[in-house]
Amino acid sequence: MTITIRSLQEHIGAKVEGVDITLPINTQTFTRLRKALYKYAVLVFPGQDITDEQQVAFSRGFGPIQMTMASDPYGGGGPINRISNVDESGHIIPPDDNRSLYQAGNMLWHSDGSFKAVPLRASLLSAKVVPPIGGETEYASLRAAYAALPKEKKVSLEGLVAEHSMAYSRVQIAPNLLSEAFRKETSPVNHVLVRRLPETGENVLYVGSYASHVIGWSIEKGRALLKELLEWATQPQFVYQHRWRAHDLVMWDNRLCLHRGRPWKNGSYRRIMHRTTLAGDGPTVG
Ligand code: OGA
Ligand code: MN
Repeated sequence: MTITIRSLQEHIGAKVEGVDITLPINTQTFTRLRKALYKYAVLVFPGQDITDEQQVAFSRGFGPIQMTMASDPYGGGGPINRISNVDESGHIIPPDDNRSLYQAGNMLWHSDGSFKAVPLRASLLSAKVVPPIGGETEYASLRAAYAALPKEKKVSLEGLVAEHSMAYSRVQIAPNLLSEAFRKETSPVNHVLVRRLPETGENVLYVGSYASHVIGWSIEKGRALLKELLEWATQPQFVYQHRWRAHDLVMWDNRLCLHRGRPWKNGSYRRIMHRTTLAGDGPTVG
């Protein structure tokens, strides 16, 4: 089958057709897809009605999988993170329930796993059930955002390090959302504010809602800079919005983009997504 890869937005996103994820995929195809992921940051594979096992097998073709943390309320230590507003018995979880609020953290711009010392390399999200309206996912190019910064700004960011934490992200939604065990497993970490990609040596911004403050600066000054950079990076010209259809699989490189979920009537409509993630290569700070 011929593979076609078509760009979706000037700076980010491409649609991939001609790959069947239910079948074994050869090394050349993985090489081609890995290059496309690096180029476009987000790859959309429509019409992939896959099992969890097939998703895990496809994900592994790109590199080592990162298991969820045992204390993660939606992973429980396995390879699949269930991002869903439906409980085990098939009932919609009320929007004001703590479980819904925890997942609302996904609606803040973020890069998966930036609260970890070795952040997640890439994520793959498979849509099982989608609402008829709303519930899109948006992706913002951290590469285009960095490239468009004025030269002086780029220079002023050199060497800066920010603290990222799960607790800081969830406090923006509501206090006390995290279990004691999860809080203990997610203590704050440091990351460079400008990340250099080993593939090409190019720079990307590293911001998002886990980023709390700048090391060595007052909290207010650091937070103001992080807010300014987040607003910069998520301007419409850097963003692709994905409107989900059931059986879409979307893969993204967490180094190259931020993402956020958009709201929907989550008290009325089901939305069930299964995510796998690829492990990162190492810490961003020396
Ligand atoms: C994720 C995520 C947002 C969404 O899967 O990592 O942030 O729209 N998802 O479900
Ligand atoms: Mn996410």
